[in-house]
Amino acid sequence: MKVKIHTLFQYLLETTEADPEAIVGFSLSQSPKLGEFLEALDPELPLDWNGKSFRGLPRLRDHVLRETGLAGICDPDDVLITAGAAEANYLAIMQLLAPDDEIVIETPGWPQAEVLAKAVGSKIRHIVRRDDDGWRFPMERLAELVNERTKIIFVTNPNNPTGQRFSEDDLMALVEQAKRVGAWLIVDEVYAGLEWEGSRSSSIAGMYEKGITTGSVSKALGLQGLRTGWLICRNREFVMDAIILRENSSEIMNIMGEVIAEVAMRPERYRAAINKARSDGLANLAQLDAFVGEEPRLSWVRPSAGLIGLARIEARIDGDAFAKRLLADPYRTFLLPGSAYGQPQHIRIGVGGGAEVNLELGLSRVSDLLTRVE
Ligand SMILES: Cc1ncc(COP(=O)(O)O)c(C=O)c1O
Repeated sequence: MKVKIHTLFQYLLETTEADPEAIVGFSLSQSPKLGEFLEALDPELPLDWNGKSFRGLPRLRDHVLRETGLAGICDPDDVLITAGAAEANYLAIMQLLAPDDEIVIETPGWPQAEVLAKAVGSKIRHIVRRDDDGWRFPMERLAELVNERTKIIFVTNPNNPTGQRFSEDDLMALVEQAKRVGAWLIVDEVYAGLEWEGSRSSSIAGMYEKGITTGSVSKALGLQGLRTGWLICRNREFVMDAIILRENSSEIMNIMGEVIAEVAMRPERYRAAINKARSDGLANLAQLDAFVGEEPRLSWVRPSAGLIGLARIEARIDGDAFAKRLLADPYRTFLLPGSAYGQPQHIRIGVGGGAEVNLELGLSRVSDLLTRVE
């Protein structure tokens, strides 16, 4: 079946040329510039790709295992380097899911799994996180939703868009439910590395043979344009199936993405980049939290990880109307309406992007518009 557009992507398409003066809710850390990598690149690098592995550069796969905490648990051949976490999710879902299957998806959550499951024609079972419950994943509901037809449970950790995380006990409970029926458990860890409380969660590929970790260099490292990510799973047949599907779309990785990502993930560089992303993110988040606290018409559950969260607008205006008015003159400020996540009374706010997004200016305009709406 045809893949249909989702409201989140629809909004991005409609606003691509809006040319805002400020962005509130940029979802990645400040991006490095190409010049920062030049001295580490080899001008003699052949760009023909011949002789490379279909799974990705071996050194990059080693870095991925080290940073996900899976070195010694998973083998480098359990890793497939992909065009971002988006391609990793795509390859996994499209190779695993059939029309008669069911998939369990959290909401609000990253819409990709739902879009693909609809295209496949599978039955979707939603597990609902609620604002008044701190956007908690209601683990007690999971057993009712998972049954013999469940092929995949798909979640994000940290959650996009609420920034909430699974505890280690939660992850074990997810594994237990998946194991009960032999389902695959995909955990999209694209925001991992930006935890504000506690340390990085265990990666699911180390906890369950049918656990699939997906991730990338896009968010914490701000390297979205490299289109470089990964999937990790100890089931070799599954990894080969993903390679086969990719062979029939983009075939192989783009070599520049892999090479630069390998440099960016070298231990010293990676530590320095993550430390900077964390200290910037934490400082900006404290500022945003104070802003929300002082705005009588906004309330939110502060993210415990990542750079974005959902804020509720306590006014008669809904998130869509608010986002549209904010993007128009005289405010010229971009944010995503909560409807992109099925939460029409919310807006997505956040602190990524560095100086280029003019966060302070954007927040003052949000504040100004909030005083004007009924
Ligand atoms: C939860 C989640 N998964 C996957 C992606 C896609 O990321 P990538 O750039 O790694 O493909 C995003 C991007 O916003 C995301 O938020």
